[in-house]
Amino acid sequence: MEAKKKIGILTSGGDSPGMNACLRAVVRTAIENNFEAYVIEEGYYGILHNLMHKVEKKDVSDIMQKGGTIIGTARLPKFKEPEVQKKAAEILKKQNFIGVVCIGGDGTYAGAMKLTENGINCIGLPGTIDNDITSSDYTIGFDTALNTIVENIDRIKDTSTSHKRCAVVEVMGRYCPDLACFAGLATGAELILTSLNPMSEKQILEHMKKEHDQGKRSALVVVAEHLLDVNDLAKKIEAYSGYETRATVLGHLQRGGSPSAMDRVLASRLGYHAVMLLKENKGGICLGIVDNKIQQTPILKALDKTSSSHDKKISISKEIIKIAEIIE
Ligand code: ADP
Ligand code: F6P
Repeated sequence: MEAKKKIGILTSGGDSPGMNACLRAVVRTAIENNFEAYVIEEGYYGILHNLMHKVEKKDVSDIMQKGGTIIGTARLPKFKEPEVQKKAAEILKKQNFIGVVCIGGDGTYAGAMKLTENGINCIGLPGTIDNDITSSDYTIGFDTALNTIVENIDRIKDTSTSHKRCAVVEVMGRYCPDLACFAGLATGAELILTSLNPMSEKQILEHMKKEHDQGKRSALVVVAEHLLDVNDLAKKIEAYSGYETRATVLGHLQRGGSPSAMDRVLASRLGYHAVMLLKENKGGICLGIVDNKIQQTPILKALDKTSSSHDKKISISKEIIKIAEIIE
């Protein structure tokens, strides 16, 4: 009897809530379709160090609601080297793998493309809280992180309103403004500061002084990470606007926690479709959700920052900032 073909799954780059739900969907869809399912621990590192284990359906029971990724993730810079990529593909070929589902961000997609070019079909799935994958309207983990941010900013607002203060809150997103934009609108921020709506220091301070002078009891400024120093900004707002001001960097709490129902559903849909593509011997493709449909995009196109889907995402974020400004 011919040995069953293997499908691998790995998570790579920053973890995100929903990765486990995706793992569960991939493993169970693969087994249902007569493949052997293998988890590859610690991202691309696990291929090179043989951290690959066969799993059964029961091994992915009760993981849907868990945050992070139970198979571990890693950043392995040397995977950018052609010799290392070739070696990884050879290891997988020797062990009868027909393909790998790679969950992560842009860097993970680049690695998946290289494995495909070396003869192992890979499907990229968007797993990052940052929502910075242009081939998908939303990434696995974005909704959960957004809700975590909103819940925490609501708490900060409770205390800043009690004390008549201004709160300056920095949120994650790497260089993508989406978490800041969406969270700013959802929490009624007086100001959202991102790379999409650059403001001079003078404009920011004048704006906050105006809010104070108009009698707003408290104020909220949501800032995208990497834009400016929030502690420094808080001091300047306090000195200029009349508001006593405190800064908070939400940090890694934004990345943890049980995935939202929306992230679980998205992760499960994407995981299922990824296996079906491998079954059709397809690779070098990433999957995303676009207008509520699962859509295939060649990875090389998804990595192209000049594509029209990139412009579409930016225009949505800009619209969100504009609405937030009008209704604050
Ligand atoms: P993300 O996938 O979230 O963007 P990284 O940029 O850290 O996170 O990438 C995750 C991993 O993907 C890297 O540690 C590396 O192993 C691999 N990777 C990143 N860029 C490339 C590349 N250009 N070619 C091949 N592999 C890459
Ligand atoms: O990509 C996810 C993310 O949390 C970004 O929002 C953030 O910039 C980065 O990872 C932080 O990385 P690290 O966990 O290595 O500090």
